[in-house]
Amino acid sequence: MSKKILVTGGTGYIGSHTTVELQNSGYEVIIVDDLSNSGIEVLDSIEKITGTRPAFEQFDISERVKTDDFFRRNNDIAAIIHFAAYKAVGESVEKPLDYYRNNLVSLMNLLECQIKYNVPNMVFSSSCTVYGQPEKLPVTEQTPRKDAESPYGNTKRISEDILRDTITVNPMLKGIALRYFNPIGAHPTALIGELPLGVPQNLVPFITQTAAGLREGLKVFGNDYNTPDGSAVRDYINVADLAKAHVIAIERLLKNKNKSNYEVFNLGTGTGLSVLEVVNGFEKATGVKLNYKIVERRAGDIEKIWADTTYANEELGWKAEKNLVETLLSAWNWEKRARGI
Ligand code: UD1
Repeated sequence: MSKKILVTGGTGYIGSHTTVELQNSGYEVIIVDDLSNSGIEVLDSIEKITGTRPAFEQFDISERVKTDDFFRRNNDIAAIIHFAAYKAVGESVEKPLDYYRNNLVSLMNLLECQIKYNVPNMVFSSSCTVYGQPEKLPVTEQTPRKDAESPYGNTKRISEDILRDTITVNPMLKGIALRYFNPIGAHPTALIGELPLGVPQNLVPFITQTAAGLREGLKVFGNDYNTPDGSAVRDYINVADLAKAHVIAIERLLKNKNKSNYEVFNLGTGTGLSVLEVVNGFEKATGVKLNYKIVERRAGDIEKIWADTTYANEELGWKAEKNLVETLLSAWNWEKRARGI
Protein backbone atom coordinates (compact mmCIF):
# COMPACT_ATOMS: atom_id res chain seq x y z
CA MET A 1 0.00 0.00 0.00
CA SER A 2 1.19 3.49 -0.80
CA LYS A 3 2.60 5.42 2.14
CA LYS A 4 2.64 8.71 0.29
CA ILE A 5 1.05 11.59 2.18
CA LEU A 6 0.20 14.94 0.64
CA VAL A 7 0.87 17.67 3.19
CA THR A 8 -0.60 20.99 2.09
CA GLY A 9 1.03 23.89 3.88
CA GLY A 10 3.91 21.56 4.70
CA THR A 11 6.54 24.31 4.92
CA GLY A 12 4.46 26.18 7.50
CA TYR A 13 4.68 26.01 11.25
CA ILE A 14 2.61 22.92 12.11
CA GLY A 15 3.04 21.41 8.63
CA SER A 16 6.83 21.31 8.86
CA HIS A 17 6.78 19.62 12.28
CA THR A 18 4.24 17.10 11.01
CA THR A 19 6.34 16.37 7.92
CA VAL A 20 9.27 15.56 10.22
CA GLU A 21 7.16 13.16 12.30
CA LEU A 22 5.68 11.50 9.22
CA GLN A 23 9.09 10.94 7.66
CA ASN A 24 10.48 9.67 10.96
CA SER A 25 7.61 7.16 10.99
CA GLY A 26 8.40 5.87 7.50
CA TYR A 27 5.91 7.86 5.44
CA GLU A 28 6.79 9.45 2.12
CA VAL A 29 5.75 13.11 2.09
CA ILE A 30 4.93 15.39 -0.79
CA ILE A 31 4.43 19.00 0.26
CA VAL A 32 2.34 21.49 -1.65
CA ASP A 33 2.74 25.06 -0.42
CA ASP A 34 2.48 28.42 -2.19
CA LEU A 35 5.16 29.82 0.17
CA SER A 36 2.91 32.80 0.93
CA ASN A 37 3.74 32.50 4.65
CA SER A 38 6.84 30.28 4.76
CA GLY A 39 10.22 29.84 3.05
CA ILE A 40 11.68 27.17 0.82
CA GLU A 41 14.67 26.81 3.21
CA VAL A 42 12.34 24.88 5.54
CA LEU A 43 12.93 21.91 3.22
CA ASP A 44 16.67 22.04 4.01
CA SER A 45 15.87 22.00 7.72
CA ILE A 46 13.48 19.05 7.40
CA GLU A 47 16.19 17.21 5.45
CA LYS A 48 18.75 17.99 8.18
CA ILE A 49 16.48 16.63 10.89
CA THR A 50 15.22 13.51 9.13
CA GLY A 51 17.87 12.77 6.50
CA THR A 52 15.19 12.91 3.79
CA ARG A 53 14.13 15.84 1.67
CA PRO A 54 10.37 15.79 1.14
CA ALA A 55 9.09 16.17 -2.41
CA PHE A 56 7.79 19.70 -2.97
CA GLU A 57 5.56 21.58 -5.38
CA GLN A 58 4.83 25.29 -5.16
CA PHE A 59 1.29 26.28 -5.99
CA ASP A 60 -1.92 27.46 -4.37
CA ILE A 61 -4.43 24.68 -3.67
CA SER A 62 -7.26 27.15 -4.22
CA GLU A 63 -6.29 27.08 -7.93
CA ARG A 64 -8.53 24.32 -9.22
CA VAL A 65 -6.71 23.54 -12.49
CA LYS A 66 -3.31 23.23 -10.80
CA THR A 67 -4.74 21.08 -8.02
CA ASP A 68 -6.45 18.76 -10.49
CA ASP A 69 -3.25 18.50 -12.52
CA PHE A 70 -1.34 17.62 -9.35
CA PHE A 71 -3.63 14.70 -8.54
CA ARG A 72 -3.60 13.54 -12.17
CA ARG A 73 0.21 13.33 -11.99
CA ASN A 74 0.35 11.88 -8.46
CA ASN A 75 -1.95 8.88 -8.53
CA ASP A 76 -0.47 7.12 -5.49
CA ILE A 77 -1.46 9.47 -2.66
CA ALA A 78 -2.77 7.52 0.33
CA ALA A 79 -3.95 10.46 2.42
CA ILE A 80 -3.94 14.22 2.69
CA ILE A 81 -3.16 16.40 5.69
CA HIS A 82 -4.61 19.79 4.87
CA PHE A 83 -2.84 22.61 6.73
CA ALA A 84 -2.67 25.24 3.99
CA ALA A 85 -4.82 28.16 5.14
CA TYR A 86 -4.72 31.79 6.17
CA LYS A 87 -4.71 32.05 9.96
CA ALA A 88 -4.46 35.65 11.15
CA VAL A 89 -7.60 36.47 13.11
CA GLY A 90 -7.27 40.28 12.81
CA GLU A 91 -6.44 40.20 9.11
CA SER A 92 -9.47 38.02 8.48
CA VAL A 93 -11.70 40.80 9.82
CA GLU A 94 -10.12 43.24 7.35
CA LYS A 95 -10.14 40.86 4.39
CA PRO A 96 -13.04 38.45 4.84
CA LEU A 97 -13.33 37.50 1.17
CA ASP A 98 -9.64 36.59 0.96
CA TYR A 99 -10.12 34.29 3.94
CA TYR A 100 -13.33 32.69 2.76
CA ARG A 101 -11.99 32.18 -0.76
CA ASN A 102 -8.60 30.83 0.21
CA ASN A 103 -9.62 28.62 3.14
CA LEU A 104 -12.87 27.24 1.73
CA VAL A 105 -12.05 26.90 -1.97
CA SER A 106 -8.82 25.05 -1.20
CA LEU A 107 -10.69 22.48 0.89
CA MET A 108 -13.42 22.07 -1.73
CA ASN A 109 -10.82 21.62 -4.49
CA LEU A 110 -9.12 18.90 -2.46
CA LEU A 111 -12.39 17.09 -1.73
CA GLU A 112 -13.45 17.21 -5.39
CA CYS A 113 -10.07 15.80 -6.41
CA GLN A 114 -10.27 13.14 -3.69
CA ILE A 115 -13.55 11.92 -5.18
CA LYS A 116 -12.35 12.21 -8.78
CA TYR A 117 -8.97 10.54 -8.21
CA ASN A 118 -10.03 8.16 -5.46
CA VAL A 119 -7.98 9.48 -2.55
CA PRO A 120 -10.07 8.42 0.45
CA ASN A 121 -8.40 9.97 3.49
CA MET A 122 -8.10 13.49 4.86
CA VAL A 123 -6.87 14.91 8.15
CA PHE A 124 -8.03 18.50 8.53
CA SER A 125 -6.54 21.29 10.66
CA SER A 126 -9.33 22.73 12.71
CA SER A 127 -9.22 24.88 15.81
CA CYS A 128 -10.67 25.29 19.27
CA THR A 129 -11.90 28.62 17.94
CA VAL A 130 -15.05 26.70 16.85
CA TYR A 131 -16.11 26.52 20.53
CA GLY A 132 -16.06 30.30 21.07
CA GLN A 133 -16.35 31.03 24.81
CA PRO A 134 -17.84 27.77 26.12
CA GLU A 135 -20.30 27.75 29.02
CA LYS A 136 -18.61 24.74 30.60
CA LEU A 137 -14.90 23.89 30.88
CA PRO A 138 -13.01 21.87 29.86
CA VAL A 139 -14.48 21.43 26.38
CA THR A 140 -15.14 17.98 24.98
CA GLU A 141 -15.71 17.21 21.31
CA GLN A 142 -19.45 17.28 22.13
CA THR A 143 -19.36 20.84 23.46
CA PRO A 144 -21.61 22.81 21.10
CA ARG A 145 -19.85 24.99 18.58
CA LYS A 146 -20.66 28.69 18.67
CA ASP A 147 -20.95 31.43 16.09
CA ALA A 148 -17.43 32.42 15.14
CA GLU A 149 -15.90 35.66 16.39
CA SER A 150 -13.99 36.26 13.15
CA PRO A 151 -14.06 35.28 9.46
CA TYR A 152 -10.98 33.12 10.19
CA GLY A 153 -12.85 31.24 12.91
CA ASN A 154 -15.86 30.95 10.65
CA THR A 155 -13.74 29.34 7.90
CA LYS A 156 -12.76 26.61 10.38
CA ARG A 157 -16.36 25.98 11.36
CA ILE A 158 -17.61 25.99 7.76
CA SER A 159 -14.69 23.78 6.68
CA GLU A 160 -15.64 21.19 9.29
CA ASP A 161 -19.18 21.24 7.92
CA ILE A 162 -18.01 20.95 4.31
CA LEU A 163 -15.85 17.97 5.25
CA ARG A 164 -18.60 16.26 7.29
CA ASP A 165 -21.34 16.81 4.68
CA THR A 166 -19.15 15.67 1.79
CA ILE A 167 -18.15 12.52 3.67
CA THR A 168 -21.80 11.78 4.52
CA VAL A 169 -22.73 11.38 0.86
CA ASN A 170 -19.44 9.84 -0.31
CA PRO A 171 -18.87 6.60 1.58
CA MET A 172 -15.43 6.23 -0.01
CA LEU A 173 -14.25 9.29 1.92
CA LYS A 174 -12.97 9.35 5.49
CA GLY A 175 -11.87 12.38 7.47
CA ILE A 176 -10.57 13.43 10.84
CA ALA A 177 -10.84 17.03 12.01
CA LEU A 178 -8.24 17.89 14.64
CA ARG A 179 -9.18 20.85 16.82
CA TYR A 180 -5.92 22.40 17.96
CA PHE A 181 -5.80 24.47 21.10
CA ASN A 182 -2.84 26.92 21.14
CA PRO A 183 0.21 25.37 19.43
CA ILE A 184 3.53 26.77 20.69
CA GLY A 185 7.23 25.90 20.78
CA ALA A 186 9.59 24.50 18.18
CA HIS A 187 11.41 21.33 17.23
CA PRO A 188 14.04 20.38 19.85
CA THR A 189 16.78 20.75 17.20
CA ALA A 190 15.75 24.43 16.79
CA LEU A 191 15.92 23.84 13.03
CA ILE A 192 12.21 24.50 12.44
CA GLY A 193 9.74 26.68 14.31
CA GLU A 194 7.27 29.49 13.99
CA LEU A 195 8.51 32.49 12.05
CA PRO A 196 5.64 34.96 11.62
CA LEU A 197 5.93 37.64 8.97
CA GLY A 198 5.76 41.14 10.44
CA VAL A 199 4.55 41.81 13.97
CA PRO A 200 3.48 38.56 15.65
CA GLN A 201 -0.15 38.37 16.75
CA ASN A 202 0.28 35.26 18.89
CA LEU A 203 1.60 35.32 22.42
CA VAL A 204 4.69 33.11 22.35
CA PRO A 205 6.30 34.53 19.16
CA PHE A 206 5.73 38.00 20.63
CA ILE A 207 7.40 36.91 23.86
CA THR A 208 10.44 35.41 22.11
CA GLN A 209 10.80 38.45 19.81
CA THR A 210 10.61 40.75 22.84
CA ALA A 211 13.26 38.68 24.61
CA ALA A 212 15.41 38.85 21.47
CA GLY A 213 15.15 42.65 21.45
CA LEU A 214 13.07 42.86 18.26
CA ARG A 215 10.06 44.27 20.13
CA GLU A 216 10.25 46.91 22.81
CA GLY A 217 7.77 45.32 25.14
CA LEU A 218 5.02 42.80 25.45
CA LYS A 219 1.46 43.91 26.05
CA VAL A 220 -0.58 41.60 28.23
CA PHE A 221 -4.13 42.03 26.99
CA GLY A 222 -6.32 42.37 30.07
CA ASN A 223 -6.03 41.52 33.77
CA ASP A 224 -9.69 41.82 34.68
CA TYR A 225 -10.89 38.46 33.38
CA ASN A 226 -12.62 36.04 35.70
CA THR A 227 -9.49 33.87 36.06
CA PRO A 228 -7.14 33.26 39.04
CA ASP A 229 -4.73 36.08 38.12
CA GLY A 230 -7.08 38.09 35.88
CA SER A 231 -5.28 37.35 32.59
CA ALA A 232 -6.85 35.15 29.90
CA VAL A 233 -6.44 31.38 30.02
CA ARG A 234 -5.55 29.05 27.12
CA ASP A 235 -4.37 25.48 26.59
CA TYR A 236 -0.85 25.72 25.12
CA ILE A 237 0.16 22.56 23.28
CA ASN A 238 3.71 21.75 22.15
CA VAL A 239 3.91 21.71 18.35
CA ALA A 240 6.02 18.53 18.19
CA ASP A 241 3.47 16.74 20.40
CA LEU A 242 0.73 18.07 18.14
CA ALA A 243 2.58 16.84 15.04
CA LYS A 244 2.70 13.30 16.46
CA ALA A 245 -1.10 13.24 16.73
CA HIS A 246 -1.28 13.72 12.95
CA VAL A 247 0.77 10.58 12.33
CA ILE A 248 -1.59 8.65 14.61
CA ALA A 249 -4.62 10.10 12.81
CA ILE A 250 -3.16 9.06 9.44
CA GLU A 251 -2.49 5.54 10.72
CA ARG A 252 -6.01 5.35 12.08
CA LEU A 253 -7.44 6.15 8.65
CA LEU A 254 -5.06 3.95 6.67
CA LYS A 255 -5.65 0.97 8.97
CA ASN A 256 -9.42 1.53 9.06
CA LYS A 257 -9.38 1.94 12.82
CA ASN A 258 -11.76 4.92 12.69
CA LYS A 259 -15.12 4.48 14.41
CA SER A 260 -17.03 6.55 11.86
CA ASN A 261 -16.14 8.11 8.55
CA TYR A 262 -15.95 11.59 10.07
CA GLU A 263 -14.30 12.02 13.43
CA VAL A 264 -13.27 15.00 15.55
CA PHE A 265 -10.57 15.19 18.22
CA ASN A 266 -9.45 17.92 20.60
CA LEU A 267 -5.68 18.31 20.72
CA GLY A 268 -4.50 20.11 23.81
CA THR A 269 -2.77 19.39 27.10
CA GLY A 270 -5.91 19.48 29.22
CA THR A 271 -4.47 22.28 31.36
CA GLY A 272 -5.32 25.95 31.17
CA LEU A 273 -2.57 28.52 31.70
CA SER A 274 -2.92 32.26 32.03
CA VAL A 275 -0.97 34.78 29.95
CA LEU A 276 0.94 35.79 33.09
CA GLU A 277 1.78 32.17 33.87
CA VAL A 278 3.27 31.83 30.39
CA VAL A 279 5.21 35.09 30.80
CA ASN A 280 6.56 34.01 34.20
CA GLY A 281 7.22 30.51 32.89
CA PHE A 282 9.31 31.96 30.06
CA GLU A 283 11.35 34.11 32.43
CA LYS A 284 12.00 31.13 34.71
CA ALA A 285 12.82 28.73 31.87
CA THR A 286 15.23 31.07 30.08
CA GLY A 287 16.47 33.45 32.75
CA VAL A 288 15.56 36.33 30.43
CA LYS A 289 13.48 39.15 31.93
CA LEU A 290 10.58 40.32 29.81
CA ASN A 291 9.55 43.94 29.58
CA TYR A 292 5.78 43.72 29.77
CA LYS A 293 2.81 45.82 30.79
CA ILE A 294 -0.86 45.17 31.30
CA VAL A 295 -3.08 46.89 28.75
CA GLU A 296 -6.76 46.77 27.72
CA ARG A 297 -8.36 43.51 26.63
CA ARG A 298 -7.90 42.66 22.93
CA ALA A 299 -11.13 42.82 20.92
CA GLY A 300 -12.48 39.38 20.07
CA ASP A 301 -10.52 37.50 22.76
CA ILE A 302 -12.33 34.97 24.88
CA GLU A 303 -11.75 34.70 28.62
CA LYS A 304 -10.74 31.09 29.06
CA ILE A 305 -10.63 27.74 27.32
CA TRP A 306 -8.90 24.45 27.78
CA ALA A 307 -9.42 20.98 26.39
CA ASP A 308 -10.85 17.81 27.76
CA THR A 309 -8.41 15.45 26.05
CA THR A 310 -9.95 12.18 27.27
CA TYR A 311 -11.19 11.18 23.82
CA ALA A 312 -7.82 11.78 22.11
CA ASN A 313 -6.01 10.06 25.00
CA GLU A 314 -8.18 6.95 24.91
CA GLU A 315 -9.12 6.66 21.26
CA LEU A 316 -5.86 7.82 19.64
CA GLY A 317 -3.56 6.73 22.45
CA TRP A 318 -2.08 10.22 22.19
CA LYS A 319 -1.15 12.53 25.02
CA ALA A 320 0.80 15.78 25.27
CA GLU A 321 4.22 14.84 26.66
CA LYS A 322 6.31 17.97 26.82
CA ASN A 323 6.00 20.36 29.75
CA LEU A 324 5.74 24.15 29.61
CA VAL A 325 9.39 24.78 30.54
CA GLU A 326 10.86 22.62 27.77
CA THR A 327 8.31 23.95 25.30
CA LEU A 328 9.11 27.60 26.07
CA LEU A 329 12.82 26.81 25.98
CA SER A 330 12.39 25.25 22.53
CA ALA A 331 10.63 28.42 21.33
CA TRP A 332 13.48 30.54 22.70
CA ASN A 333 16.19 28.32 21.19
CA TRP A 334 14.46 28.58 17.84
CA GLU A 335 14.16 32.37 18.07
CA LYS A 336 17.85 32.69 19.02
CA ARG A 337 18.92 30.47 16.15
CA ALA A 338 16.68 32.27 13.64
CA ARG A 339 18.13 35.64 14.73
CA GLY A 340 21.70 34.46 15.03
CA ILE A 341 21.80 35.23 18.79
C1 UD1 B 1 -6.11 32.67 18.08
C2 UD1 B 1 -7.34 31.95 17.60
C3 UD1 B 1 -7.02 30.54 17.26
C4 UD1 B 1 -5.93 30.49 16.24
C5 UD1 B 1 -4.72 31.18 16.79
C6 UD1 B 1 -3.64 31.19 15.75
C7 UD1 B 1 -9.48 32.61 18.46
C8 UD1 B 1 -10.39 32.60 19.65
N1 UD1 B 1 -8.32 31.99 18.64
O1 UD1 B 1 -5.81 32.10 19.37
O2 UD1 B 1 -8.14 29.88 16.74
O3 UD1 B 1 -5.65 29.17 15.91
O4 UD1 B 1 -5.07 32.53 17.15
O5 UD1 B 1 -3.53 32.32 15.02
O6 UD1 B 1 -9.80 33.14 17.43
N2 UD1 B 1 -1.79 37.85 24.15
C9 UD1 B 1 -1.24 38.92 24.85
N3 UD1 B 1 -0.30 39.68 24.22
C10 UD1 B 1 0.09 39.44 22.92
C11 UD1 B 1 -0.48 38.36 22.21
C12 UD1 B 1 -1.43 37.59 22.87
O7 UD1 B 1 -1.57 39.16 26.00
O8 UD1 B 1 0.92 40.20 22.40
C13 UD1 B 1 -2.79 37.01 24.83
C14 UD1 B 1 -4.13 37.00 24.14
O9 UD1 B 1 -4.93 38.06 24.55
C15 UD1 B 1 -4.65 35.62 24.56
C16 UD1 B 1 -3.40 34.76 24.67
O10 UD1 B 1 -2.32 35.69 24.80
O11 UD1 B 1 -5.27 35.72 25.81
C17 UD1 B 1 -3.17 33.89 23.46
O12 UD1 B 1 -3.26 34.69 22.30
P1 UD1 B 1 -2.86 34.14 20.86
O13 UD1 B 1 -1.53 33.49 20.91
O14 UD1 B 1 -3.06 35.27 19.89
O15 UD1 B 1 -3.91 32.98 20.57
P2 UD1 B 1 -5.50 32.99 20.62
O16 UD1 B 1 -6.03 34.35 20.45
O17 UD1 B 1 -5.88 32.21 21.83
